[in-house]
Amino acid sequence: MPHTDSNRLILFSARQYDADTFRQANEAFGVELDFQEAHLDAQTAILARGFAAVCPFVNDSVDEAVLQKLHEGGTRLIALRSAGFNHVDLHAAKRLGITVTRVPAYSPHAVAEHAVGMILTLNRRLHRAVARTREGDFSLTGLLGFDLHGKTVGVIGTGIIGRVFGCIMAGFGMQLLCYDPGKPADDLLARGARYVELDELLANSDILSLHCPLLESTYHLIDEDALNRMKRGAMLINTGRGGLVESNALVGALKSGQLGNLGLDVYEEEGGLFFEDHSDNLLQDDTLARLLTFPNVIITAHQAFFTREALIEIAATTLGNMKAWLDGTPRNTVDAPSS
Ligand code: NAI
Repeated sequence: MPHTDSNRLILFSARQYDADTFRQANEAFGVELDFQEAHLDAQTAILARGFAAVCPFVNDSVDEAVLQKLHEGGTRLIALRSAGFNHVDLHAAKRLGITVTRVPAYSPHAVAEHAVGMILTLNRRLHRAVARTREGDFSLTGLLGFDLHGKTVGVIGTGIIGRVFGCIMAGFGMQLLCYDPGKPADDLLARGARYVELDELLANSDILSLHCPLLESTYHLIDEDALNRMKRGAMLINTGRGGLVESNALVGALKSGQLGNLGLDVYEEEGGLFFEDHSDNLLQDDTLARLLTFPNVIITAHQAFFTREALIEIAATTLGNMKAWLDGTPRNTVDAPSS
């Protein structure tokens, strides 16, 4: 095994904003930081040789082959700088004795507020209105929206983010329908939320927002069948994970009018696309290309988390997780589900 200095952390897929916030948060920790723009994969894992701790981002590959290479290089901690951990082979990590930590909550407001921003944009066609007025077109045709007040919003997953989202929507005077296999959230119940089965939520929601994790049980939760069971013309917002929605089913649902509006901050095939400038390249993903042509679709590139407050909290928690692990008291660990 190569010599590893346990106080060194290498960040993959690192951008200037990561470097800025990690350096700022690191004043309290004194970790030796290394920033790599490269994605983590089987080829780039070699860069982590000698680093006990590796910090990947959401679209990095942390599969068995990568973990094996990292382990050979001396890595013993995967310190995720995200809440989601669906991109990590937890069974392989466990077998190799690699601890995995994450940032369970940084700013639920950042993600919830982005989802609300998408709803307001789609409903009032702000994306089209702004483009029009810049061109001197001051007409209103095609920009007709609806009052949120009195309509019904379905919240799928009422954990930390879904609860904040539900509270904001209740503030608009919307009725809340919730679906979550876990315990109902008191603050949503206090705002009149009703917990119902998924079918009832799909059939009765004017707007549906996804805030559950991507698990085997939630993969393609919204597929062609679920889209058909939704209220005709409803709006779907996904700031959760791309795999929650069957992307190929979206185009048909939009063309038929069954799906009235679509806001995506995450996309099934976003790896290799999101977080980078591809404007000089031809888009190879035909589904994404088609989705981008609809006037009632907006897509953002996994930016819901992207606020100053969230970035600082992510950096501080990631570094705190690493220090706790070094002290022999790991926290915010993610364990492999028992199979
Ligand atoms: P959380 O763990 O607090 O809440 C998730 C909720 O989903 C829990 O209440 C859980 O019981 C529920 N759930 C589990 N299985 C479900 C199912 N089959 N149907 C409905 N609900 C189910 O997680 P948190 O912090 O609220 O985050 C939610 C998700 O948001 C994360 O897993 C992550 O994928 C995504 N996220 C997206 C970000 C972005 O930038 N777009 C940033 C941060 C998180």
